[in-house]
Parts: sequence; structure tokens; C-alpha cells
Amino acid sequence: MGEKSDTSEKDVTDFRPPEDFARNAIVNDPEIYSRTEKDPQGFWEENAENLHWHRKWDSVLEWEPPHARWFTGGKLNACYNCLDVNLQKRADKTAIIWEGERGDIRKYTYKELLEEVCRFANVLKGMGVGKGDIVTIYLPMIPEVIISMLACARIGAPHSVVFAAFSGESLATRIGDANSRILITCDGYSRRGKIVEQKNKVDDGIRSCGLVEKVIVVRHIENDVSMKDGRDVWWHEVMKGSDSSCEPEIMSSEDMLFLMYTSGTTGKPKGIVHTTGGYMVATHTTTRFVFDLKDEDIYWCTADCGWITGHSYLVYGPLANGATIVTYEGAPDHPEKDRYWDLIERHKVTILYTAPTAIRTFMKWGPSWPQMHDISTLRLIGSVGEPINPGAWLWYHENIGQGRCPIVDTWWQTETGMIMISPLPGITTTKPGCATLPMPGIKAAVLDEKGNEVEPGKDGYLAIMEPWPSMVRTVFGNEERFIETYWSKWDNRTYFAGDGAKMDEDGYFWIIGRVDDVIKVSGHRIGSAEFESILVSHPSVAEAGVVGKEDELRGEVIYCYVTLRSGIKESEELKKELRMYAEKNIGPFARPRHIIFSDDLPKTRSGKIMRRVLKAIANEKDPGDVSTLQDPAVVESLKERTKMLESS
Ligand code: PRX
Repeated sequence: MGEKSDTSEKDVTDFRPPEDFARNAIVNDPEIYSRTEKDPQGFWEENAENLHWHRKWDSVLEWEPPHARWFTGGKLNACYNCLDVNLQKRADKTAIIWEGERGDIRKYTYKELLEEVCRFANVLKGMGVGKGDIVTIYLPMIPEVIISMLACARIGAPHSVVFAAFSGESLATRIGDANSRILITCDGYSRRGKIVEQKNKVDDGIRSCGLVEKVIVVRHIENDVSMKDGRDVWWHEVMKGSDSSCEPEIMSSEDMLFLMYTSGTTGKPKGIVHTTGGYMVATHTTTRFVFDLKDEDIYWCTADCGWITGHSYLVYGPLANGATIVTYEGAPDHPEKDRYWDLIERHKVTILYTAPTAIRTFMKWGPSWPQMHDISTLRLIGSVGEPINPGAWLWYHENIGQGRCPIVDTWWQTETGMIMISPLPGITTTKPGCATLPMPGIKAAVLDEKGNEVEPGKDGYLAIMEPWPSMVRTVFGNEERFIETYWSKWDNRTYFAGDGAKMDEDGYFWIIGRVDDVIKVSGHRIGSAEFESILVSHPSVAEAGVVGKEDELRGEVIYCYVTLRSGIKESEELKKELRMYAEKNIGPFARPRHIIFSDDLPKTRSGKIMRRVLKAIANEKDPGDVSTLQDPAVVESLKERTKMLESS
């Protein structure tokens, strides 16, 4: 173990942007906040001018709460805005530097990337894919994932990228919900030197879902895979001879750009719908403002394209700004724990955007790993995905930021599409562990149950008060759920983020974490209900309650309280089997930390499992009033069992 995690929490101080950084920053005049507060629409309109529109919008915003339409009447293509617009000035500039886990490197200039994207767009067209057809992408972090996304965008086919580590079953659920008949995947990939048999997962997963007509398979690691006649084709074969030019489909601003599935409070993942114009304006603008992205930067966002960060701040935002992006396929400790710092040194990375779990892991490994490398090219570092504790923030500042790089702790969500609360690195005085202020153009607040603003220093719910360009438009195929989840808490026009927060006396926002039944394990979002429905589908399980337990390294870990069917005996083997069952059905990142058997679970008199009580028990906190439970004695026995785990 390297450093202790929170030793420096006591020394919390404020950090002003370094003078030379501030002087050269893209945004360095605080007047931006007051100006945009008066006219947020004017701000977004001004920034929309930086994109290429095939037809200009008629109105900036049409707001019929809770439905917003941005830049209506405007026509554009997202792929065109990422690639074609860069041809004039940056045709030979490197767009992507990709590094495989095994050390192989591939680079694409903007011109080369456009050609590849067009070739693949033509392949899709040849398969009959057209505007509005949803294409599922199930690829690890290889260049083809970006090429596929942009090719879809080029022909107006919304993409749905499914995180490669999800199980075949999770993939099939998402394909089914999206009604997607085309799937892009690969033979397999390398993770910590071990091969993940991706194509096998596909074959198993989609066997029972008759939807998929074509599977395009990238040959990535050349493991043996079976190809189904008439359905499966190799990427390299269909790309052979495909034309390298393809006219972009001209899309309406409100046409869907992509679907991104995320976990919520019910058993079924939600397809978050993002549209084209507002999303592109929002990601293009915030990438420049938050990362201070300049033409000479080498920008590395460690996120996977299977999550929203990979969409907004690896692909669309940075490429629309003509950036050179770095992307890495593998694990941070392969072959050694200095892989990230080695990569930064070799590729001369100037901006690094990563997650608190990664930072806490680096902290555990100790500073000697980054010290082995020259990482002095870094000038800005960022964090996203979960609250970063002040100790980890300070470690990041000192050991990676070398005491001089501004840190941008960015709060946002799959649903917001863009960074909503974050420092502007040339202006904002930062405080360790604090996401600071809403972006220009964004109005956030901390509200109580009734929708009144709470006093500074008090806990409340994080709310967004006005529409923003990249906001979720609906939940795919489930408008009711969209309204219910995000808008019904208060007045059907104030967005409920699902996070707890408080504001300090400087108006800074401190994010506390999820207040709903969403668990954040290493930044991955997992729904309690989704997990429970998988557990109860196991023949031995009668009931399950799944909650997050705070964890120093991963933010949260998963505790599963399980009641077995009558006649089934508790055993260590069964625990192991249930763990593996969860892993097989969701993915390895969702491995429960503990399975706790219990004859009963805390339930209301109407039989509803009270996760609030389970969560308190798992976290060894006071469960509060339990008098309304069917059987309050359950609490004591569960506390006992949980305590035994901790001491074992
Ligand atoms: O709880 C918040 C946490 O991540 C949630 C959103 O998760 P997801 O949709 O997967 O998107 C993650 C990447 C944008 C939020 O509701 N979260 C995200 N960023 C932060 C954060 N919590 C605290 N601080 C952050 N900077």
C-alpha cells in the first residue's frame, strides 16, 4: 500500500489558476458567468456558430416542459463536423493515436480517418442501413469503435454502443430494446494479457434474439471464432474495395444521434436519447472551455466508448475541435503499474481526463510509478464519474499535476450529455473534492423535497433549473419513464439529477452521490433493481436486495442480501455460483463483493424491500425508524451477519 488515502483531508486549501495558465486560457474573463446568466440562449447561439450547419436554425430553443428542442430548423451532420471541417487546416494532423494493450500503435490523420469512416459508412449503406436505423456497436477500445460511431453518424443511423465488458445477455437486452438488426463486434481483445472471447459472448447472447441480421466482425487478436454463414462477415473483407468517399446525410438538429443505455431504478436499462444539433454545440463548446483545448494539445481521455464520457469527450467534442486524441485499449497495470505514465511520456500528452477510482488506485500503488517517467508535458488534468475525495484530489494535484496543473472535477451524467458543473481552468479557484460552479449557460440549484432552495451548507437534491442543449430528449420507447424519472419530482420543468449535493458559502457545488437506487462501482453505473432481477432469476433465489457499500478505492462495492428458496441450503459454493451468475449476466465489473444470506429481508407491511434500510446496514449506519417494517427483528440479524463479514 502506498499513501494513505485521506491523510491530507485536513489541509484542504483553495487553488488559484496559475498565472501563466490563466493568461493563455481560452476562457479567462470571469465576466462570462454574468453575461451568460442574463442570456443563456444567446450564449449557446453564439457557440453554435462555431459548427458547420448545412442550414441555419430558425429558433434556438423551443421549450415545452419537459421537452426541449434546440436549434430547430437547423441542419447538420455530426460526422461532418468532426472530420470534413478539419480537412482544410488539419488534413495531415493526427486525429487518433491508438495504443493497444500489447504495445501496438496505430495513428490516423484527419484525412485518413475520414476515408476509413466513409469506407465503413458505405459498407453499412450496402447492407441497407439508412437514416434512423439503430446500429449496435460492441467493441473494445480499438480505432474501429470510433470509426463505426462516426460512420453511423455520417449516414444518419443512430448508434448504440454497448460497453465491451457487458455480458452477451446484457448485449441482447439492449439490442432487443433498440430493435437493432446490425451489430459490430470483434473476435476478441486483450485485458491484462488475457483474451476476452468477445465473439463467443455475442454468439451466446444473441442466440435467442432473432433480430440481428448482420454481424460485422473486426479481426483484432486473431483468436479462433466461428462465423455464421449469411449473418457474420469480417470487417476487413467488407471494407476491401469500399469507396472512400461518402456524402454525409443532412440531419435535422433534433434527429437522434445516438442511444446510450444506462442503469436506473427499475430492472430494465434505459435508452437515453441524444439528438444532433444541441449535443454537438454542447460538447464542442464545453470541450474547449473545460479542457482549454488548443490545436497543439495531445488530449487523452481514458474513458471507454461504452460510456457517455467516451462519446462526448473522447470522440465528438475533441474531434469537432480538431484535436489529437489518444486512446488506449488496455489496463493501467499492464504490463506494469506505470503504463499510463509511460504512455503520457511517449505520446507527450498534455491533457489527461480520468476517473477517481483510477486516481485512488494510482495512489494505492504509490508515487514511484509516475516518478519513473517524464510527465512534464501535462498542463491540465481532469476527473469524472464519481465524487473525488479531497485526499485523492490532492494526491492527483501533487503527483500527476506536479503541483501546477489545474484540476477540472467535472460533474455530469449520461442524461446531461455535457459537463454541467466544473471549474473553468483559467478562472476558477478550485477546492479539493469540489466540482465548483455550473458551466456558463447552466443554471443548477440544491433543492429540498418540496423544490425550495436549501441554505448553504445543508444537504439537498441537485437540480437543473433551465433546459440545456444536450439534455436527454426521452427514454427510447418509454416516454412515461422519462417524465417519471427526471421531471416528476417537482414541477415537470426542473430536472432531478438523482444526486445529493450541497452548496457552500461561495456558491460552490459539492456533489455527495446518488440518492436513488443507483450504485456506482468504479464509476460504472449499476441499478439495484436490475441486479436484483438477475439474482432472482437464479433457481435458488427467492428474494434479493442489492445495495452499495462505501469503499475507499472503488467508491462503492456491491452487497447482495439474498433469501433462498425453501429447501435450498446456504453454502460457500452457492455464494460463488451467485457471484459468477451475476458476472455472467451483467459483466465482470458487476461482481458482488459479498452475498449475504438471510431468512428474511427488511420489508414494508406491503412487502416492498426497503433498500434504504439495507444500505444503512451495509454501511454500518443507523437505519433510522424501522418500526414500520413487517419484522423489525430482521434488522438486528442482518447487522450481525454484515458485521461478521467485516471481521472475517
Ligand atoms: O452520481 C453522479 C456521478 O456519476 C453519475 C452519472 O453517471 P453516468 O451517467 O454513468 O455518467 C458518468 C460520466 C459523466 C452522476 O449522477 N458523477 C459523475 N461525475 C461526478 C459524479 N459525482 C461526483 N463528482 C463528479 N465529478
